[in-house]
Amino acid sequence: MATSFIGKPKNRVDGRDKVTGAAKYTAEFHRPGLLHGVVVSGTIAKGRIKNIDTAEALDINGVVEVFTHNNIPSLAWLDLSYKDMDAPPGDPFRPLHSDEIQFNMQPVALVVADSLELAQYAATLVKVDYEVEEHRTKLADNLADSIEGKGLRAGFTPPESIGNFKEAYADAEVKIEAEYSHGAEHHNPMEMHASTVFYEEDGSLTVYDKTQGVLNSQHYISMVFGLSKKKVRVLSPFVGGAFGSALRPQYQLFMATLAALQLKRSVKVELTRPQMFSFGHRPITIQNLKLGATTKGKIEAISHQAYSETSTFEKYIENIVNWSAKLYDCGNIEQIYKVVRLDVYTPLDMRAPGGATGMYALEAAMDELAYKLKMDPLELRLKNYTEEDMSDGKPFSTKTLRECFKQGAERFGWEKRNPEPRSMKDGNHFTGWGMATGVWDAMQVPARAKAEFSADGTLTIGSATADIGTGTYTIMTQIAAETLGLPLEKVTAELGDSDLPFAFIEGGSSTAASVGSAVQKVCRKIAKKLLKEAGKIKGSPFKGADLEDVVFSDEKISDKNDPSVNMTFSEVMKSRHLEKIRKKYMLLPNMLKQRKYNRNTHSAVFAEVKVDEDLGTIKVTRIVSAIDGGRILNLKTAHSQILGGVVWGISMALHEDSFMDHNFGRFINHDLSKYHVAVNADMPDIDILFVEEPDNVVSSVGAKGIGEIGLVGVAAAISNAVYHATGKRIRSLPLTLDKAM
Ligand code: MOS
Repeated sequence: MATSFIGKPKNRVDGRDKVTGAAKYTAEFHRPGLLHGVVVSGTIAKGRIKNIDTAEALDINGVVEVFTHNNIPSLAWLDLSYKDMDAPPGDPFRPLHSDEIQFNMQPVALVVADSLELAQYAATLVKVDYEVEEHRTKLADNLADSIEGKGLRAGFTPPESIGNFKEAYADAEVKIEAEYSHGAEHHNPMEMHASTVFYEEDGSLTVYDKTQGVLNSQHYISMVFGLSKKKVRVLSPFVGGAFGSALRPQYQLFMATLAALQLKRSVKVELTRPQMFSFGHRPITIQNLKLGATTKGKIEAISHQAYSETSTFEKYIENIVNWSAKLYDCGNIEQIYKVVRLDVYTPLDMRAPGGATGMYALEAAMDELAYKLKMDPLELRLKNYTEEDMSDGKPFSTKTLRECFKQGAERFGWEKRNPEPRSMKDGNHFTGWGMATGVWDAMQVPARAKAEFSADGTLTIGSATADIGTGTYTIMTQIAAETLGLPLEKVTAELGDSDLPFAFIEGGSSTAASVGSAVQKVCRKIAKKLLKEAGKIKGSPFKGADLEDVVFSDEKISDKNDPSVNMTFSEVMKSRHLEKIRKKYMLLPNMLKQRKYNRNTHSAVFAEVKVDEDLGTIKVTRIVSAIDGGRILNLKTAHSQILGGVVWGISMALHEDSFMDHNFGRFINHDLSKYHVAVNADMPDIDILFVEEPDNVVSSVGAKGIGEIGLVGVAAAISNAVYHATGKRIRSLPLTLDKAM
């Protein structure tokens, strides 16, 4: 029997290490003499530092140095042309670069001391005098001063409008227009951002960094500090949640590296929970939707317009309005996207950036249209289902959304829904049922992998990718084991080390399709070599055999048609006096083939809520999410990915809201007691199903990448359910009880 691991619900190979504490995270690495750095955060949103007084802090016994813009060396920054792998257009933030303040909580000093406690105390003694300038932080007040988002950043631009929206909308028999908004959200992974920089005797650096891409951090250090990459090794074996927050090098990496190089000592800098609110957020957007249809529910016109915020130093762009042409068969679509430059840090990618927010507005508007048409919202979506992207006419590489709708609706019991708002009551609660669609990109990017097969039958595979909790270690192991016919225990996957072969930052749901395929291909190269060596053995049945003629399973090469003709890997290695077989592979996406298709994942989300009639409290009681994610590599980790996305969606719909006091231009609920995230008690029954269809355009392993799709559509489905429950249309997230009452 062929060994088969792909698709099975396998436990994480690193699961035991994670739950027993054996897995070490960035801030847990230690060496004798390690210094601790604490960042002093600024308190104004815009202006200049007139004076910064560090004398009192430096007076403390055990404080080694206080770094400010006054005493840092002039750095390379490669003539300011440096950009990280996830940088939007503009100039990346340069910590301690000058006296200029560009956003509130900007780091203004780093206190370095023998112990964390000393550094924390000394940091309170640093006194800063500011020259305050007037700041602009409120999106809604500054819409007139926006810049066009189109064309600012490749890959993040709305497609050209199609048809004639204005005319079609004017002629439409049924129309709706509505404005939607949502709060800013901040990343709150369990592990806070940290960098531990070990200064080696030869002056090189060994850096543990919380990152979604060790090579991105290595590049940053090398470019900013003008160091050869050979002198910088970055490691990130485990990441305690990131989901966008660690795509870009954050300022603690700069701080720890600066101090280590200047002091020629090892230094660790870990941000505090409030400081997690100082380096980027999911940007607030204000969106306007116009939909026009015939009385029979055929959509004739769509306009999706969004205003979003960015910083004064970078133009952050995301795909907010890009989705309608991929979802609805409509010939007249207008997509407008504008950004407003405010005195805030540059917004930051957060799980399904743009999709989570843009699809909230589009899918809430679809619900409004369905009500106006007196049509079932699912039927409206089916009636306008498209097999091609309306903006370019290209088909989808695979699309099982229709089946997702069908199976999701069945699981949920959608047909029993009484469409009338406030019609379903459960004691003191109104029950609401709502649904929405999700869509996200299925990308493949270049990736390298290496493999080493040893005479003892073990295999080590490696790629400089990351496992941000998504299960990368596990799927790499599964793919390698299956490709070579090895038991999982004999395969070791290595990642999160800049010495490993190239991989991009782990983001955009691209890793399974990219690194996964590279691992598969490099293992095929090992298989080919094993077969070739087997053929050289005297009297070998595999002389001149091709990979197609044989099967690799149970640590043997077997004839495809006659399994009794076989040779174990150890026989081959022994007979051929081989200690190791080493191979490398570079995966380059097949652009010629991929360009012919639109490559997307989809979801159909069904939600049930119960709204307390007297108190206005909203509880999500049931979610069914049906996912079009290509071939599922591991049912268990895939399920967990979608589960996490649904939890995030519930959190987005009901809880998360970074509240800014615009008097100060400062997020004020910057800790977990005031910034609410969904917790266990908020969790409903979450039912996840996959409608699988291997997608061999996206990747040779058939996977489409399911990191982010689990979140898209969830907030809209909940919002639509709340309308069904209460008859009240709330057009801003989160749906707090003051809005529901
Ligand atoms: Mo992706 S924004 O790194 O979850």
